Amino acid sequence: MSALLLTEIDHVAIAVNDLEAAIAWYQEVFGATVDHRERVDSDGVEEALLKVADSYVQLLTPTRDDSPVAKYLANKGEGLHHIGYRVDDCAVALQAVKDAGGRVIDDAPRPGSRGTTVAFVHPKTSFGTLIELVQE
Ligand code: CO
Repeated sequence: MSALLLTEIDHVAIAVNDLEAAIAWYQEVFGATVDHRERVDSDGVEEALLKVADSYVQLLTPTRDDSPVAKYLANKGEGLHHIGYRVDDCAVALQAVKDAGGRVIDDAPRPGSRGTTVAFVHPKTSFGTLIELVQE
């Protein structure tokens, strides 16, 4: 058995059509506030992070039609998009996925939001869940 590489749930990402409406709903219903907001042009998304203990709910909306999140919304509608697992070393965790025969989206770690380093793992070999490995 391998050593545990996942240290925490970093975020649960939810794809939404209307970011403002989703933020307002989380505020009104749960009293949640936006801790961080960022437009990531390389991914074609705008995100709002709502802090829940040491993790986040990440509300995600596309900023252009060819963004993967836009395609996701068109095909599947709003809902759970991916889970971000916090790791100490993104490269080590990504290599562990590859060594196990897992399919990856990012062949090497790359910059994510909040100054993090991230890599995405394809849902095909991870039981239908898009996984993001997040190194702070
Ligand atoms: Co994410």
